[in-house]
Amino acid sequence: MSSPSRSSRLTGFYKQSVAERRRRLLELAGLPAEGFAAVDPGALPLDVADGMIENVVGTYALPFAVAVNFVVDGVETLIPMAVEEPSVVAAASNAARMARPRGFTSTSSPPVMIGQIQITHVTDVDGGAARLRTAADDLVAEARRLVPRLTERGGGPVAFDVRILTRESADGAVLVAHLHVDCRDAMGANLVNTLCEALADRVAELAGGRPGLRILSNLTDQRTVTVRCSIDDAQLASEGADGAAVRRAVAAASRFAELDPYRACTHNKGIMNGIDAVLVATGQDWRAVEAGAHAYAARTGAYRPLAVWREREGGLEGELAMPLAVGTVGGALHVHPGARLALELAGAQTAERLAALCGAAGLATNLAASRALATEGIQRGHMALHARGLARAAGATGELVDRVAAELAATGDVKADRAREVFARMCALLDSGDSR
Ligand code: MEV
Repeated sequence: MSSPSRSSRLTGFYKQSVAERRRRLLELAGLPAEGFAAVDPGALPLDVADGMIENVVGTYALPFAVAVNFVVDGVETLIPMAVEEPSVVAAASNAARMARPRGFTSTSSPPVMIGQIQITHVTDVDGGAARLRTAADDLVAEARRLVPRLTERGGGPVAFDVRILTRESADGAVLVAHLHVDCRDAMGANLVNTLCEALADRVAELAGGRPGLRILSNLTDQRTVTVRCSIDDAQLASEGADGAAVRRAVAAASRFAELDPYRACTHNKGIMNGIDAVLVATGQDWRAVEAGAHAYAARTGAYRPLAVWREREGGLEGELAMPLAVGTVGGALHVHPGARLALELAGAQTAERLAALCGAAGLATNLAASRALATEGIQRGHMALHARGLARAAGATGELVDRVAAELAATGDVKADRAREVFARMCALLDSGDSR
């Protein structure tokens, strides 16, 4: 959904049945009636799965959902998510509602990936590095000739540089050359690896050493996205805490993460809750983004939070900055029907837009977690959602889900057998005509 006129504010969406939600989304996103077949059970055919990885014995399903209320760079946006953890989708949607008045804004670097060529046993490491620097323009031109179509589309290799890693080691003197490649809308792993392999012999010869590894780096610190939001106190208020108190508490939670790597790691996990869910739904290499995120978080030598929150007069400002190597062409997208549907629902036609949506989802789940942790604690919300899940599993539908869940949450006894008991009692009351 990419039209600014179609609102992503889908009131009561979470209370609807799956069929009702689908109907609402079909209308909103302008999908054909059979649109959701791509995420029906068994939608990934076995023969397609067999072609994707090795030793296939089946397919493995995850819940597929959309987070609502997002406005990203002025555009109303549905955020597709595939995730096993309860509360991620709700957290993202709640935080997006708080951020809605101003929305999320993003800026991105060009989509430049780094390919590494290692050169070992270099006889004259300074001379080798100097020869490579002199040949840099030629090497970039040679690499560009290898990818003419990408170059025509405005991408392709853009730079080449070299660093001395060690003058003496078990591998002799070691250099590493970096080839910087603008991958446009592809994540670019195959492309970058192919280019590194193609250039390696010439690079090693120029350096006077032996070619070593030739592979992209997942620390894609030149392919980053920055997402911001600004939230007024009124939006932040929660049961039992006014907006200004929540603002102060979230800023303090951010400072805790800035001071302590143990907290920063969990803070970043809360960010990745949102981001990974979008990555999985849209068929991305989420391990690559995870690896890049944590390496980036530690780039100064200390492990730091990827998002920080600061107080301003009457509100809170959040900023997330991190590498986000994603693609809207290539990879699993060729074959995975659910991933294609997810991109369509998100209206993400470019890698840049997809990265912005991932960043907004991550900033949203971070805000929701920080706000809950800094006020009532995380367990109350988790338990309320868990209670709804148990109510459904016990057989409750429609309004009964809320009623069973409310009773479980109120007694604090949020367990499957208790849910079955409460549901059975409510059914019996309904059958006897007493619907209190
Ligand atoms: C749980 O999946 C995520 C949190 O631990 C994140 C955080 O602590 O900020 C709640």
